Amino acid sequence: MNAPFNPRAGMRDPFTAFVCEDATAELVRGVAIEHGWAPEKVNKGGLRNAIQSLSVAASPHVLFVDLSESGDPLTDINALAEVCEPGTVVIAAGQVNDVRLYRDLVASGIQDYLLKPFTSDQLRDAFVNAQLTIAGPRGPEAAVDRPHTTVAVIGVRGGVGASTLATSLAWLLAEKAGRSTALLDLDVHFGTGALAFDLEPGRGLTDAIENPSRIDGLFIERAMVRVGDKLSVLSAEAPMHQPLATDGGAFHQLQEEMRGAFECTVIDLPRNMLIQHPHLVQDVNVAVVAAEMTLAATRDAIRVLAWLKANAPNARVVLAANKVGQGSGAEISRKEFEQSVERGVDVLIPLDAKLTAQAAKLGKPLAEVAKAGKLGQPLSRFADIVGGGDGIGAPDEGDGSAASLKSKLGGFKQLLAKKPKPAPVAA
Ligand SMILES: Nc1ncnc2c1ncn2[C@@H]1O[C@H](COP(=O)(O)OP(=O)(O)OP(=O)(O)O)[C@@H](O)[C@H]1O
Ligand SMILES: [Mg+2]
Repeated sequence: MNAPFNPRAGMRDPFTAFVCEDATAELVRGVAIEHGWAPEKVNKGGLRNAIQSLSVAASPHVLFVDLSESGDPLTDINALAEVCEPGTVVIAAGQVNDVRLYRDLVASGIQDYLLKPFTSDQLRDAFVNAQLTIAGPRGPEAAVDRPHTTVAVIGVRGGVGASTLATSLAWLLAEKAGRSTALLDLDVHFGTGALAFDLEPGRGLTDAIENPSRIDGLFIERAMVRVGDKLSVLSAEAPMHQPLATDGGAFHQLQEEMRGAFECTVIDLPRNMLIQHPHLVQDVNVAVVAAEMTLAATRDAIRVLAWLKANAPNARVVLAANKVGQGSGAEISRKEFEQSVERGVDVLIPLDAKLTAQAAKLGKPLAEVAKAGKLGQPLSRFADIVGGGDGIGAPDEGDGSAASLKSKLGGFKQLLAKKPKPAPVAA
């Protein structure tokens, strides 16, 4: 639709519908929810109501209008075009089965016309096509301007907060940096990618693993759960009796398709997957190694960093120390940790049990709840480093490279040597 530019366009809703009867409203609501759109955006009243409402409000990205009660759909559609801002994709529905009307409507700028009664599948297809139109073709120019970034977040031990960092990172890249982002949670049985956003994971990821040949652009559009305009999640809660039956081909294919459909992919990559499917890091641009300052995490940070050097030599490694501070920070100091892993920590994220509990209760990522507080700043910095902002790869102090630390005495062996030996157990 082609009305002149309107400054209200900045406040556009992703979706609005104007329908004539309850049955259509119910059907549209159901499919809208699947797309992550608010069901209350489905209004009663057809085309005339749409024209009235949109003359005083910003038009949405996707607009569904019911033409059933319109005596002259073509004239009314042209009146709608007057109040719609550029870029709105209009899907119409009506009872008139006339190919001339269909052609005239398409010529007037509507994207699709659904003959009533239509099915959920037909509507779903129309919405998916609308979203593809909005996303636009990914021309070679766009690819040069903003090459796709694939980030893998790997926790060196269980529970260090890798998933917390992955969800926060995906949210920050999408909401703050404005980059369309996919969060791919490869913890197929116990993943929290959807849970962190208070969403159901759906069957998308399990379907992909079962039928890798089905994975294509359209599959990605349908299977991913939308968190917002810029952020979508693919996650699963596979049943525990169902072992992960894949050679990893599905994961590779998913990465490939996401590379075509998004600007960033954040992979929550459980470390045990590295053993089974080392090729998963082949095309990764940034590997986030999430650790804690504990003895066990130090040992495994050394191992994971060495493994990445061998298996993802082209990936930029970002070392994130999480849960730093009183309580968990006491086991090993930052200095000891850095000497042992022979590099600097790129970002330190403090321990804050209160805020993480609040994020969990609200069903929001930690970064969203943290705002500008004591966790907000380091998390933003973390996203900035990963996303290639000002401080690419720069640690908090010094350059943190192995070279800058090589003169210092270091190594995990020294660290272990300092630990008191346990007293012998009396026989
Ligand atoms: N900075 C932090 N301060 C306090 N608690 C945190 C922090 N980061 C994460 N947590 C908490 O630690 C717990 C484990 O986090 P998370 O699930 O992200 O870890 P993980 O490394 O992905 O674990 P898993 O090995 O199960 O995949 C969660 O309860 C989370 O809220
Ligand atoms: Mg996890």
